[in-house]
Amino acid sequence: MTPPTSRAAACPEPGRALPRTLVLGSLTVDTPVVLAPMAGITNAAFRRLCLEQAGSAQGSGLYVCEMITSRGLVERDPTTLKMLVFDEAETTRSVQLYGTDPVYVAKAAEILCAEYGVRHLDLNFGCPVPKITRKGGGGALPWKRGLLGEILEAAVTAAAPYGVPVTMKTRKGLDDDHLTYLDAGRIAQETGIAAIALHGRTVEQSYSGHADWRSIGELVAHVDIPVLGNGDIWEAADAVRMVEETGAAGVVVGRGCLGRPWLFRDLAAAFAGDEVTTLPTLGEVSGMMRRHAELLSQHMGEERGCTEFRKHVSWYLKGFRAGGTLRHQLALVSSLDAMDRLLAELDPAEPFPVAELGTPRGRQGTPRKKVALPDGWLDDTDGRGQHLREDADETSGG
Ligand SMILES: Cc1cc2nc3c(=O)[nH]c(=O)nc-3n(C[C@H](O)[C@H](O)[C@H](O)COP(=O)(O)O)c2cc1C
Repeated sequence: MTPPTSRAAACPEPGRALPRTLVLGSLTVDTPVVLAPMAGITNAAFRRLCLEQAGSAQGSGLYVCEMITSRGLVERDPTTLKMLVFDEAETTRSVQLYGTDPVYVAKAAEILCAEYGVRHLDLNFGCPVPKITRKGGGGALPWKRGLLGEILEAAVTAAAPYGVPVTMKTRKGLDDDHLTYLDAGRIAQETGIAAIALHGRTVEQSYSGHADWRSIGELVAHVDIPVLGNGDIWEAADAVRMVEETGAAGVVVGRGCLGRPWLFRDLAAAFAGDEVTTLPTLGEVSGMMRRHAELLSQHMGEERGCTEFRKHVSWYLKGFRAGGTLRHQLALVSSLDAMDRLLAELDPAEPFPVAELGTPRGRQGTPRKKVALPDGWLDDTDGRGQHLREDADETSGG
C-alpha cells in the first residue's frame, strides 16, 4: 500500500539493514517485533495465539500483557490480580505497568519481578483516556519531566536486582504545542530505561489521523537507547518500511493484529528477510476464531471466555461475505458448542478479502477537543515530588 504522505516524510534509507533481533538490556528478543499492550485484548489467550502464529514458542517477538495498575497490584486488588495470568507457552513474561507515583511503581515492579517471574517491564505514558489524563497519568505525565524521571528511576532501580529491563511507551506529547517525546527520550536514557516506544500521535489526536513516523526518526536521532516505532502498522511491509525510514530498533504492533493474529507470522518472516502475506480462507479464519475462543475458555472458563471472544468477531470477519444475522449471533455466543454450530455455516472456501490488506482496523475516532488535564498542569514542567493519586482499579489502557 502506498503510504499517506503525512507519515512517509522521513527520508528512506534503502541501504539500511533490517535489525534481526531486539536487545533490551539483558533480554534479547529474536524478532524485533512487540505486540502492543492493549487493554481488554492482550490477555494470556491472545498472547498465546499470536505466539503460536509467529511459529516459535520462544523468541519470535515480545508479547506484552494488558496494562496493570501499580497501586492495584500493590494493594492486591482482585481485578488486577486476575489480569496477571500467563500461558504456559509464554517463556518471556512481559507486563506493562501504569503508575503516577514512584513509590507504588517501584513496589509493583518488585512484586512482578520477585513473585511473577516477569522478564520485561514496560511503563505506560501514552494513555489518552480523559479519566486518566485528567489525573495527570498516561500521556499527560511526561509533561512533568522531573516526576517522569522519578518514576522511571524508581522502576529501573526496583527491577535491576532481578536483571529485568524496563522500557517506556509514550506519545509525541499532549498536542502539537506541547510536545514531550524528545525530553522523554533523554530522561529515559538518563534513568537507565532499556528502550523507548513512541506512538507517533499526540494525546489530542487519540487514534485519529495518521501516525507521524517522522517523529520516530527524530527520536532515534536524539537518543542512544533503542527506539521502538509504533502506529499504523497494518501489514508486515509497513513494519519494514517504518524501520527503514526511521532507523527504529523494532516495531510495536497494535490494531493491525486485531482479528489477524497471523500478522506475527508475516512479521517474523519479514524481519528474517522473506516476504510473506498470509491470506487465510474463511475456513482457516474460522479455525483461528475457534482456537481463540478455546484459549480464552481455558484461561477464564467457557462462559466468560466466549463472552470475551465476542468483541473479536467483527475483526475476524471484516471484509468477508458472512451474513449480518450470523455475525450478530456469533457476537452473542456463550458456549463453544454454539460457536461451532455457527462457524459451520460459514463458507470455508471463501478467499481472504484482499481489499482489507493495508487498511486500518480497530479504534480510530476523532481528535479530542481538548486534552483533559489537572488544574494548572501546564504551569510547571517539573512536578518532582508531586505524587498523584492512583486508582487501584484503573484498567482503561490506551
Ligand atoms: C483497544 C486498545 C487498548 C489499548 N490499551 C493500551 C494500553 O493498555 N497501554 C498502552 O500503552 N497502549 C494501549 N493501546 C495503544 C496501543 O498500544 C498502540 O500504541 C496504538 O494502538 C497505536 O498502535 P497501532 O497503530 O499499531 O494500533 C491500546 C490500543 C487499543 C486499540
